Amino acid sequence: MIFTKLTYFLEIANRFDTLIWFLFRPKYWEHTFYKIIRKFLLNHDSPKDKIKATKWASLNSVSSRKALLNLGFKGSYKNLNGNYLKHAKVRASKSPIKMGGPADLNLLYNSVKLLKASRVIETGVAYGWSSLSILKAFSERKKKGVLYSVDMPYPKKKNEDYVGIVVPKNLRKYWYILRKPDRPGIIDAIKLAKHQVDLCHYDSDKNWWGRSYAFPLLWNALRPGGLFISDDIQDNLYFYYFVKSNSLNFAITKHKGKFIGLIRK
Ligand SMILES: C[S@@+](CC[C@H](N)C(=O)[O-])C[C@H]1O[C@@H](n2cnc3c(N)ncnc32)[C@H](O)[C@@H]1O
Repeated sequence: MIFTKLTYFLEIANRFDTLIWFLFRPKYWEHTFYKIIRKFLLNHDSPKDKIKATKWASLNSVSSRKALLNLGFKGSYKNLNGNYLKHAKVRASKSPIKMGGPADLNLLYNSVKLLKASRVIETGVAYGWSSLSILKAFSERKKKGVLYSVDMPYPKKKNEDYVGIVVPKNLRKYWYILRKPDRPGIIDAIKLAKHQVDLCHYDSDKNWWGRSYAFPLLWNALRPGGLFISDDIQDNLYFYYFVKSNSLNFAITKHKGKFIGLIRK
């Protein structure tokens, strides 16, 4: 009984502490406001929805090479340089703070190459694996490019200094990080990219309501022929809803037990 009461008290104290953390940071206010609103909206992230989304994604999943091919990308598919990754792993091991896992690096690397993408927006950086693969692809050609990354560091974790740690110095000249939440970071990134984006990689707020805010904004900023990639589409049915209700040309691939959705504009 005493133990239950103590756990309850600690949980309340932790929530209060988090609220104070957000209150002292104006750039998080819009994000916090919508996080609170979300609590009163329909929950589309139930285990039932997740099972349905996983089943659908699994039925439609193909290899990443085939996914790109199905969306009209012809050309050779190469793997990221192993040595580069080895050095990046060493840099990651220096971070005392654990952050979100990497996306499908070869998929992103090849997407930039095959699309000849030069304006890219990504949401969710953490260690920066996805950023590394996009920037590496830029660096290997004459006409480079700019990557606009939106990332909100984990609240209270003090991980700011370690965000993007795997990206080497020589690649950072093509990189612009907006250290803010998706709200308002995505709109700022779209403005910086002058509303003409070749490739979007979405790997931040995976909640239905988070996606329902971000997907239409990013989709509208994509140029015709551009590519939209979202990680973890098995979390809820938003990707399914988005492609079906807009009759979009999509493909799905699996990476480390999770599903990635691709849409060609
Ligand atoms: C899965 S990790 C990203 C991994 C990264 N793409 C990679 O391949 O290494 C998710 C990141 O998104 C950030 N994030 C979560 N919710 C966010 C939000 N609402 N706005 C901006 N960033 C957010 C987290 O802090 C974390 O850094």
